[in-house]
Amino acid sequence: METLKAMALRKSVRAYKDEQIAEEKLETILSAGCAAPVGMARYDSLHLTVIQDKEVIKKVSESIMQMLKRENDPLYGARTLILVSSQEMPAPGLDYTNASCVMENMLLTGADLGIGSVIVWGIALAVEANESLKEALSIPEGFKPLIGACFGYAADTEQKEKELTVKIQSNRV
Ligand SMILES: Cc1cc2nc3c(=O)[nH]c(=O)nc-3n(C[C@H](O)[C@H](O)[C@H](O)COP(=O)(O)O)c2cc1C
Repeated sequence: METLKAMALRKSVRAYKDEQIAEEKLETILSAGCAAPVGMARYDSLHLTVIQDKEVIKKVSESIMQMLKRENDPLYGARTLILVSSQEMPAPGLDYTNASCVMENMLLTGADLGIGSVIVWGIALAVEANESLKEALSIPEGFKPLIGACFGYAADTEQKEKELTVKIQSNRV
């Protein structure tokens, strides 16, 4: 029941308060990520990077802006980024699928705890393309950044549950 409520509450947040998220909430979010299903139970093939250093977040933001030729902060003022990286896996797509399962658990847990989030595709691309950034983040050797997201307290505190409907085209056989 609570899971359905978290799903209904979760939405992409694109403006954050300048306030760091509580440490115990971050721990819960990370633990929830680690409870996700992972192909062949290869939890060791994944790595989580929590980025809270303001200067490093600024570098990631600038790197994305440069790459995408954007002028606005693509990280929306978020004070925490979480990046999921993976080693190369023996089956195609396994790395991205694992990272997505971990990330979705973290997004939903954020929603449950009143922490907003948004996946930003450019985070992983920018880190992968920037060797000094990869080094600054201590991404372990052999791991590739796959999905990054912003986490933080939403500037707009209004919470609205969306209706859960089958909106993706589907069929039954
Ligand atoms: C793989 C992926 C990449 C995304 N990249 C971005 C992004 O770069 N910037 C952004 O603001 N939102 C990004 N989003 C968020 C989507 O735009 C958002 O999930 C979608 O519009 C549905 O809205 P909701 O999350 O509020 O339900 C991304 C979402 C996913 C799953």
